[in-house]
Amino acid sequence: MSETVKLVVGDNSYEFPVIEGTENEKAIDIGKLRDLTGYITMDPGYKNTGACSSNITYLDGENGILHYRGYSIESLAEQSTFLEVSYLLIFGELPSKSQLTQFETDIRKYTLVNEEMKNILDGFPKTAHPMGVLSSLTSALTAFNPKAVNVNNDKEMYDAICKTMAKFIVIATWTYRKSMGYPLNYYDNTKGYVDNFLRLMFELPTGPYNIDPKIVSALDKLFILHADHEQNCSTSTVRMVGSSHAGLFASISSGVSALWGPLHGGANQAVLEMLEQIKNDGGDVDKYVLKAKDKDDPFRLMGFGHRVYKNFDPRARIIKKAADDVLGTLGVDDPVLEIAKKLEKVALEDEYFKARNLYPNVDFYSGIIYRALGIPVDMFTVMFAIGRLPGWIAQWKEMRANKEPIGRPRQIYNGATPRDYVSLDKR
Ligand code: CMC
Repeated sequence: MSETVKLVVGDNSYEFPVIEGTENEKAIDIGKLRDLTGYITMDPGYKNTGACSSNITYLDGENGILHYRGYSIESLAEQSTFLEVSYLLIFGELPSKSQLTQFETDIRKYTLVNEEMKNILDGFPKTAHPMGVLSSLTSALTAFNPKAVNVNNDKEMYDAICKTMAKFIVIATWTYRKSMGYPLNYYDNTKGYVDNFLRLMFELPTGPYNIDPKIVSALDKLFILHADHEQNCSTSTVRMVGSSHAGLFASISSGVSALWGPLHGGANQAVLEMLEQIKNDGGDVDKYVLKAKDKDDPFRLMGFGHRVYKNFDPRARIIKKAADDVLGTLGVDDPVLEIAKKLEKVALEDEYFKARNLYPNVDFYSGIIYRALGIPVDMFTVMFAIGRLPGWIAQWKEMRANKEPIGRPRQIYNGATPRDYVSLDKR
């Protein structure tokens, strides 16, 4: 007999079915709760609320486990490539050699961005934050691709995915070129996806740009680590916006905006700024740990804590090691890496952080690597967005394929009760 849960409301008792996932996570299906009882549930921040069933990513926050389509993040980061992982997330299986080659070829068909998009970019001041520009440009792509994709047509869906993968990386790098006053670069279809990211960013018309394969490989790994993370704030946003049947570009543009916030993807920029501040303030790590614990001080240790991970963030472990490797192989000696390690050590031994299960998250060490790779600080969250793109696409596609209803939470109204309108002259 399948499991049910009993709810007692006054003199009545109701039974609700229990849903169980493939990793034995359980949920109470309250789909009929309001109809049966007149009650709704209240869960600000959705700390206990499942918004969908998904086959894409499995996350066990208590045990620090992260799987994409059943493959551990450790094995993918070690053995796979970003485009392969993108394919896996979006289409459900690792590609064969020919599927992967085809995927790369099909992405290349769309790497030219409409020249008129440059006029839109020109409208932004040079000082605009790249995430704001990226969100706007992604949204603007809708104007150049106005036809809504038919999600029931595999070919149309596939083309839309390739198009999004192609255009997004180009416009993401344009945000940096604009801020530097550099001419915009074109994707080079003879080169790989991550190579292209570096060329689009850094190649100048005045001289050759030699790509260091170690940098390509480090970036590839970072993108894999960011590629999906189930129902986080930006992904939920993409699914929510898409649930109104808004298009892929519009939904992803909203995801970029959600990711920008310092409590989400914007934390990687905030971490580096915090580490710099500690360094410039004499490197007194204890002082900042005290500030983070002080409830009257709004300061938080950026890059620490996670809504779901309550043991460790497996991505942070991989990134911490990668930071050592990358800085070592590139011969970069960055004093903030030492400050970060000290801060981690002090915080992990502190009762406040232990009691609240606050551990370094994915953003804690990633910025140090980005900086070693020559990525400017305000582009860090854009890097996260490029990595997260396949996850957003996969989740959007799944949401539409599952024919999920429009997202529309309820509320408990706490405002004024009915009252009579008072005309302006009497107020
Ligand atoms: N520094 C100091 N105290 C903290 C921190 C922190 N970084 N994070 C949480 N706490 C405390 C918080 O004050 C609260 O204490 P108390 O129980 O005494 O009121 C307790 O820990 C629980 O915190 P919360 O804010 O209720 O937890 P949450 O699940 O709502 O928030 C979080 C999770 C990630 C937003 C939060 O830990 C945070 O603000 N971290 C810093 C920002 C950051 O690094 N964000 C990146 C997250 S990972 C990547 C991503 O999502 O993009």
